[in-house]
Amino acid sequence: MKPGAAGRFKTMDFPIFHLDWMGNRMLIALIAIVHVMINHAFAVGFIPVVTLLEYLGYRKQKNNPIEARKWDRLAYKLMFIAFVVTTGAGALTGVGIWFSTSLVNPDAVGSLIRIFYGAWFSEWIIFALEVVFVMIYFLRWKTSDGSPAAKRKHIQFGVFLSIFSWLTMAIIVAILGFMMDPGKWGEFRTFFSGFANPLYIPQLYFRTPLAMMLGGASALFAALFILKKDNTIRNEAVSHLSLWVLIWAPVCAVGALLYRTVIPEAMIKNLPTAVATMTYSRWYESLLWIILGAVMLSILTALWGFLKPRRLPRFALVLPLLALFVFLGSFERIREFVRKPYIIGQYMYANGLRVEDYPGYKEKGILHRAQYVSTSQVTESNKIEAGKNVFLLACSRCHTVGGINSVVDKFKKRFAGAPLQVDAIKNYIPKMNQVWYYMPPFPGNEAELDALTAFIIDAGKNGASVQGAQTIGLPRRQKDNRDAAKSKEDIQP
Ligand code: HEC
Repeated sequence: MKPGAAGRFKTMDFPIFHLDWMGNRMLIALIAIVHVMINHAFAVGFIPVVTLLEYLGYRKQKNNPIEARKWDRLAYKLMFIAFVVTTGAGALTGVGIWFSTSLVNPDAVGSLIRIFYGAWFSEWIIFALEVVFVMIYFLRWKTSDGSPAAKRKHIQFGVFLSIFSWLTMAIIVAILGFMMDPGKWGEFRTFFSGFANPLYIPQLYFRTPLAMMLGGASALFAALFILKKDNTIRNEAVSHLSLWVLIWAPVCAVGALLYRTVIPEAMIKNLPTAVATMTYSRWYESLLWIILGAVMLSILTALWGFLKPRRLPRFALVLPLLALFVFLGSFERIREFVRKPYIIGQYMYANGLRVEDYPGYKEKGILHRAQYVSTSQVTESNKIEAGKNVFLLACSRCHTVGGINSVVDKFKKRFAGAPLQVDAIKNYIPKMNQVWYYMPPFPGNEAELDALTAFIIDAGKNGASVQGAQTIGLPRRQKDNRDAAKSKEDIQP
């Protein structure tokens, strides 16, 4: 394969952000998983439930105005929760995702922007509008109590907001699907060939009912606190909300099966580690059953709430609700994990390097192409520093040196605690992607492999940790690095 599309390859021209204690993967995972939970449970799934309850109240207005008022109060109080959670923590973590991902993997985000340019800023506009619409729906609630016509309008706005919240998810899921399997994009390289990737519809089909279940279960849990035992609408409300969860459950199951069939076969190999980490991958099967059991538990609880609403105590929902959130969290973790070694399927590895540039890197090395590292080549005197830079470029997106998923610990464990040996490490690194499919191949040349090995052994002895550009500042760019970057070979992907 020749390096780069036109015999040219890409420079690594971003500073390297690195958190050595929690690791970059963990940072993104924490922010993103909290965001997805809020988005699915309190926006996509919650707003339709609130609107439905508001509508139920409206329908009773003629025959039973006192009860109608109670339904309306319940819907309003639930919307208050959604309002606080989505415009506060939801919006913050949403912004957090883009900050953290663009710091950790700017090359991948850069490629996504180039490919999905239109969707990128549309998503932002839609996101801003969503926040505005949530505010309008919530803040206009009380003024819409005045007349039936005003109430009708308000409910219609709720329907509109429900569709709108779903739309933000529908756009972003296209990009998530694309990253797992770009499908025909590899051939055509167009916006639509990327957008209409093979995983898009199945994943959207799965996420939509899952969000509805989460929204219904969260609303049910909150309703049990809002409605006192003697509230006359309590039983009916619990029964309705339980029914909502029950209706969506089979749709979600079909979505999950459909989704499973489109995950590329190669990724299935990553599943045991994705579900349970390497240490616990033997538990893969049992964990799958635990996750399934947890989902069954929430369905059974909903059945209980539907058939015997009076007897459903608050605490009965704690476990099922937790189970649903854990289910969603595991799904996100697995989805992110099985995509590896790629960050964009077949096109770019998780280390931010393009597949087509690998031959060039292997020959000339990666330091030579990197602008924001302190060494541009390996010499006898800079070996350990150069090795650290190779680590930053090739391993730091997934590993730390002294923290979670530490590369030093991984080697110590692999060699059962024996002192780290140069030969053993040097032999392992070029083969690591064959042993574990989720790691990208080592991109550097022979001298860089030597340097990385020396660095790992040194860190094992001296317990080093590595700082990112956000702590130590931008490394001084060397003259030869700048020249390399300016050379005619360089292009942006
Ligand atoms: C795409 C992310 C990713 C990248 C990049 C990556 N690794 Fe890993 N590596 C992992 C994961 C995930 C594990 C398994 C962690 C677990 O579950 O315990 C792992 C495990 C390992 C292990 C233990 C394997 C065993 O057989 O015991 C070693 C050693 C290792 N990595 C070295 C490296 C080195 C050196 C680099 C850089 C040249 C690197 N990795 C780059 C994700 C990555």
